Amino acid sequence: MSAKLTGAEVAKHNSKDSCWVIVHGKAYDVTEFLPEHPGGQKIILKYAGKDATEEFDPIHPRDTLDKYLDPSKHLGEVDMSTVQQEERAEDPEEAERQERIKRMPPLSQCYNLLDFEAVAKRVMKKTAWAYYSSGADDEITMRENHSAFHKIWFRPRILVDVENVDFSTTMLGTKVSIPFYVTATALGKLGHPEGEVVLTKGAHKHNVIQMIPTLASCSFDEIVDARQGNQVQWLQLYVNKDREITKRIVQHAEARGCKGLFITVDAPQLGRREKDMRSKFNEAGSNVQEGDESVDRSQGAARAISSFIDPSLSWKDIPWFLSITKMPIVLKGVQCVEDVLRAVEMGVHGVVLSNHGGRQLDFARSAIEVLAEVMPILRERGWENKIEIYIDGGIRRATDIIKALCLGAKGVGIGRPFLYAMSAYGLPGVDRAMQLLKDEMEMNMRLIGASRIEDLNPSMVDVRGLVGGHNAVVPSDTLSIGVYDQLQSPRFNEKPKL
Ligand code: LAC
Repeated sequence: MSAKLTGAEVAKHNSKDSCWVIVHGKAYDVTEFLPEHPGGQKIILKYAGKDATEEFDPIHPRDTLDKYLDPSKHLGEVDMSTVQQEERAEDPEEAERQERIKRMPPLSQCYNLLDFEAVAKRVMKKTAWAYYSSGADDEITMRENHSAFHKIWFRPRILVDVENVDFSTTMLGTKVSIPFYVTATALGKLGHPEGEVVLTKGAHKHNVIQMIPTLASCSFDEIVDARQGNQVQWLQLYVNKDREITKRIVQHAEARGCKGLFITVDAPQLGRREKDMRSKFNEAGSNVQEGDESVDRSQGAARAISSFIDPSLSWKDIPWFLSITKMPIVLKGVQCVEDVLRAVEMGVHGVVLSNHGGRQLDFARSAIEVLAEVMPILRERGWENKIEIYIDGGIRRATDIIKALCLGAKGVGIGRPFLYAMSAYGLPGVDRAMQLLKDEMEMNMRLIGASRIEDLNPSMVDVRGLVGGHNAVVPSDTLSIGVYDQLQSPRFNEKPKL
């Protein structure tokens, strides 16, 4: 076994002409790879000759270097005791965050999903919070997603025997304990060092399905390996320009037992999330000096990781997808009835009505509103059982789930709330968030007068506020107003110290 490299040897290769980086105690020669890096060269050059692990980890699954960097560029182990530790400027914001972490409310004080968000906002790293919480442009759609549920009121039934309430259901043929699934969200390790596998464990405990994101921090196989018993997972797919890669991903997922393929159709390009972009620019503790243009801080985390997504994806590709897999295919991100009808005609198995958590087109309508538009037309045609309809975006309460099911959704996807619960409290947080939804579900099913999911129907909701256009007055919702992180304007420089 050859001797380990020293930090000093690696540090010599600190330029574009010869660029080595250390990741997890091993050195890699990435000189030739620089122009190919999907996130751009600048971010790698920032770590040329240095340990890049901390920056690398949330964005890259463990197997990335083995997959994409030729073995000849794997230079071997580094004696980490010889690697100079970066001198980090004392960052007052980070010190305050650490202080807040020490004083975090006990988990038992979180009584609803928005409580986790309130805690996460104060204990997450600023850049991680910015990436998870941001929406497109003015974040109008992001906020509308939740408030649209407040335009729907209940018409409960009385004197129904609700002693035993069963809210289990099936989704794409899988029996689940409650009609929500953990939807795909990128970069789990920004919020928690173990990343998406924490959600896998939570989903197992509560017998719900997890949708595995293409842009996960953990590798696909790590997330599948974390599965227990006969736990079911689906795959969310960003379609690569190189269809051979796409085919390999899909067929690998099927071989590894995934039970559904959710093709994202609302993101030919990722939206501009200004909170995310601004947080990169102001990143505290970073050794990037203002005005140093060698590091690309303009795009936030999102764009850097998404350059492979194919904007030419179209309806023409759907038969091909149906031909390469036996997994049911669901289009994720459908936003009007015309496209739902077309999806039925194409023979896909489901759609997710979604605007991507308000992260794509601002002023896209909420999924619950689109659902109210879609279902009557499907029923008119007798097509309501030809396809499964899911919605996501803004779901924070079991009453939101119940409203969606009354209108005809098969289930709902929940994303950010579990990320926040995981970021603040780890697996116990995710567990509690899911349990709170179950408790709310049991109580609210009783109160609306439904003992089984099949009992929920359109006559139990008053949607006049929803179908009456966008002028409906919604009740002031103090929890969500309280956690909303307002968009900021550009900051002036600090006054120079005399
Ligand atoms: C996002 C993508 C990656 O919304 O799904 O950031």
